Amino acid sequence: MTGQPPGGVADSAEEPRPPRRRRVLIKVGGATLVDGAARRALAQDLAAIGGGVDLVVVHGGGPQASALGQRLGIEPVFRAGRRVTDPATLDVVALALVGGVGSELLAALLAENVRAVSTPVASGRLLRAKRRPKRLVAGEPEPVDFGEVADPGAVDGSLCEALWHGGFVPVLSSLCVDDGGARLNLNADSAARALALGLGVDDVIAVADVPGVFGELGRPETHRATLTPAEARAMVASGAVKGGMIAKLEELAALVEGGVAACWIVGAAESRPITRALRGEPGLRTRIGLTAEAP
Ligand SMILES: Nc1ncnc2c1ncn2[C@@H]1O[C@H](COP(=O)(O)OP(=O)(O)OP(=O)(O)O)[C@@H](O)[C@H]1O
Ligand SMILES: [Mg+2]
Repeated sequence: MTGQPPGGVADSAEEPRPPRRRRVLIKVGGATLVDGAARRALAQDLAAIGGGVDLVVVHGGGPQASALGQRLGIEPVFRAGRRVTDPATLDVVALALVGGVGSELLAALLAENVRAVSTPVASGRLLRAKRRPKRLVAGEPEPVDFGEVADPGAVDGSLCEALWHGGFVPVLSSLCVDDGGARLNLNADSAARALALGLGVDDVIAVADVPGVFGELGRPETHRATLTPAEARAMVASGAVKGGMIAKLEELAALVEGGVAACWIVGAAESRPITRALRGEPGLRTRIGLTAEAP
């Protein structure tokens, strides 16, 4: 934070800006937003954070996009936990994320008196993006063409700064637009990583349908309370984590290596998982950080 108010208007000498507030990014997985009671619980947890921090929410919508696609006869295809997006799938993703999940999360937050503003992450050029070239990914022998899929580019935080300044909470879906005006799909964990680094966020919490990382999914005793970035990458390389957890661990490891002190993966089914993690209260979750501290 530079002390510059939004819009680049200089501070007057009589009205110094308050010191930089704590910035918190919450990434919410689509599976945690499917039913109304779960959305209400999440919105209540977010509302309990209070007005003292600058909050930004990024949401996914994987299951909702897959379900809408299937209703339209379009089967989802994944490689290394990331969706392959042909033009028809892109339409589905845009409808499911912006029209569906985004509006449902907006409604839940407004009902809890959170002054949420729901919009794609492309809005106001908050996050630039470019089409992802074919690339090698974990578990695939050949480079994969993901189709209408973005890699995140530069962040211009003006939109978030303006919203925070007005007391609003940006709620962002991961729909991107490239410099030529083409819409692109971006994994929500990748959007969260780019935004968190670009905005200089202090804390990142990923809310998932699992309360963190397991050495073996389905075996509670293999739960990992803490992971270093190297340990997270090793779990990807060994095949211990699968599906969407691959992308999530890659992105959270990159966040910690990029300077965010610690990130957490929390489970939506836990009691107040977000505020408990932010306040350092005990809970079942995975902390990814450079040092092994209390989760
Ligand atoms: N070893 C593991 N430990 C924990 N979760 C795992 C593991 N291996 C695979 N997973 C899966 O990863 C999933 C989380 O990734 P997923 O992409 O589905 O959700 P998300 O990223 O929270 O949501 P969205 O993609 O909508 O943003 C879990 O539902 C779980 O089934
Ligand atoms: Mg995911």
